[in-house]
Amino acid sequence: MNRDLKKEKQIAALEAVKYVRDHTIIGLGTGSTVYYAIEEIGQLIKQGLQIQAVPTSVSTQKLAESLGIPLIDINMVDKIDLTIDGADEFTEDLKLIKGGGGALLREKIVASMTIEEIIIADSSKKVETLGNFKLPIEVIPFASNYVKNQISQLGGLGNIRFIKDDIFITDEGNYIMDADFGLIKDPVTLSDQLNTIEGIVGHGLFINLTTKIIMGSNDSIISFEK
Ligand code: A5P
Repeated sequence: MNRDLKKEKQIAALEAVKYVRDHTIIGLGTGSTVYYAIEEIGQLIKQGLQIQAVPTSVSTQKLAESLGIPLIDINMVDKIDLTIDGADEFTEDLKLIKGGGGALLREKIVASMTIEEIIIADSSKKVETLGNFKLPIEVIPFASNYVKNQISQLGGLGNIRFIKDDIFITDEGNYIMDADFGLIKDPVTLSDQLNTIEGIVGHGLFINLTTKIIMGSNDSIISFEK
């Protein structure tokens, strides 16, 4: 069946924005799906909505600024009420792979501070088992070869991300290593193992961070929550 993924992204985004309340702190994710949510929030601001937003990337910051969405420094807040973000893959039990856009580190920090983390996605993102999408891992440049070897000891194959001929540099000045672990049958254990490797500052396995996933499915939405 041919699915209109752009439309699915849009309807998921619009549904998620219904959860935005006045006088709250809102985390703004990164990517082509969240784009529609940020656009909608920009419209609501023009109609009088009062929020302050924490962007998860420089690109989202610029987009939010261009739409007149008031921003607040993340270090000026202790918690974030609601974050709307995207995902590269998700399972029905709310585990995710994120970081296709390279913003996973700030996204994970924002998610960790968030009370209600809503993930929006088109139907192509839903999988039985994570791992077809290579796992983005943010590494400090000094440690990149060490981390590559450690990933290999865990059964993965990591490659530093390039944009054309240049190494991709994250907003925090690090590299992204896209790692192929095959299908990840035990994402919790892999996440824990990656967390112990020196030089990895963040990885794209998001476990226990999501409260709800809203997926566009043709003309309707399907929600997943615990
Ligand atoms: C950014 O680093 C990612 O985590 C995005 O949230 C993810 O890649 C989803 O992006 P799209 O909505 O563009 O698919």
